[in-house]
Amino acid sequence: MKNQLKSGLALIGVTATIFVGPLAAAQAVSPAPPESLPAPIPRTSGAIATYTLVVPTSVSKSKLQTRAVIPYGSHCPKLTTLRPNGATKKTKMKLRSPGASTGAAFASIRVCSANIPRYSQAASVGRVKVPFKLASKIDKIALLADTGCRIKVSRSQNCSSPTDWPLATVAKSIAATKPDLAMMLGDFFYREERCPDSAVDQCGGSPAPLNGAPFKDSGYGWIADSLVPMAPLFATTPLLAVRGNHEACHRGGNGYFLLMDASPLGSKACAPKDGVAPTNITPSWAVDLPLKPGRTLRAISVDTAYGLDFEVTPWEPTQATAYTQAAKLAKRKKGRESWMLTHRPIFGLQSTDFAAGDPKFTPWGSADQEAAAQGKLGNFSAIMSSHVHVTQAVQLPGYPAQFVIGNGGTELEPPTGYGIPPYGPLLDGQGNRISPDFAPYPNANWQWTRVQFGFVVATPGKKPGQWTLSQRSPNGKAFATCSLKDRTARCK
Ligand SMILES: [Fe+2]
Ligand SMILES: [Fe+2]
Repeated sequence: MKNQLKSGLALIGVTATIFVGPLAAAQAVSPAPPESLPAPIPRTSGAIATYTLVVPTSVSKSKLQTRAVIPYGSHCPKLTTLRPNGATKKTKMKLRSPGASTGAAFASIRVCSANIPRYSQAASVGRVKVPFKLASKIDKIALLADTGCRIKVSRSQNCSSPTDWPLATVAKSIAATKPDLAMMLGDFFYREERCPDSAVDQCGGSPAPLNGAPFKDSGYGWIADSLVPMAPLFATTPLLAVRGNHEACHRGGNGYFLLMDASPLGSKACAPKDGVAPTNITPSWAVDLPLKPGRTLRAISVDTAYGLDFEVTPWEPTQATAYTQAAKLAKRKKGRESWMLTHRPIFGLQSTDFAAGDPKFTPWGSADQEAAAQGKLGNFSAIMSSHVHVTQAVQLPGYPAQFVIGNGGTELEPPTGYGIPPYGPLLDGQGNRISPDFAPYPNANWQWTRVQFGFVVATPGKKPGQWTLSQRSPNGKAFATCSLKDRTARCK
């Protein structure tokens, strides 16, 4: 093989050699047998990465499913669990494959999956321990999102700098706080362009998207953007994953459905058909998290991979089906409070520095979500979102508190330009309706925004609906505290 090139994947802890000659030949998307980069060297488990996802009980009675990422061609390992009586149980993990039409992009890896049996006392894949239970009394939830390293030909984040891209530090700090679970609110994948020649010191070796493919991600891209930096979190903490717009099928969706999703759509949900990436939406789903006897948090995930932020589009009726499902799941029940987990905020505020004199500009987003969710938020106490790369809380009178936690590592938004606009969501800068079909919301009466990297640790308060949200920097230091009470947020 010619043009052998030592890969900068060393920076992500993976030793590999890239053969650029044959890769160029393999860049057409084809259903032919996988033939691509050699897989990274697995750990002692025989897997490249292991982690445990929080999934609905319809998928796993324990609400947990373990995944192992393996090199293509090797066999799925067994999941070993310890029963309460001390006996061990070995479960064969099932193979999850990417769609054949993803061709060389995912040729190097496969994913294996097995449900954790209820009442397990320990679990491991090979010799690697994996998270095996959800606490019966949950008292600490980590939230993070927008974690990938943004690579653009025009300007790239420095993926080799822990201050410019602090995801690995964030993951380590989350693991150190020992939360009962982590909620990842979407936008895992940002390696959507070739590393610019001017920035090889910053992102050298970052896997480029496959030429000509109708999507942007790859197995190696996910290894670099998520699996390696998040490893400390994966080792300790069950992960509830939400799909972001960067996981739309024309972007990072193939990896999302292969690695992170447990919905009925399956691992091939984003496989291109006739060279075109599909557009799809996962059904809304819920998981109950017991907080103490008589008090439960129901976390309801809504897929907002599609839609637009500043206009109401023909996608809105499809998006509305997901909010109708979510509203049913949030039906009031004594002792139960509901959070909506949705990547695009319903009431998020963008910096007005984006306006650049555009009379149609509105800082409110996301417009398709504002329209689609109308009349369906009455039973929620909070909306947990990300998408805007800040940490923020916004309060509309009579509506659930909106938190935006989009500061997990991706390049941050402009540092200034946040405040309560003169008009509410679904109005534009001239005070006109964005869409004649949807009434505007009342304006916010309070907002709080900080533009700095970090994550959130949420702990339940004494009374139903009460929470404290500690805003942490990447190294885990608290820099602000928010409260949630009676569907109302305050931060200081
Ligand atoms: Fe994002
Ligand atoms: Fe986003």
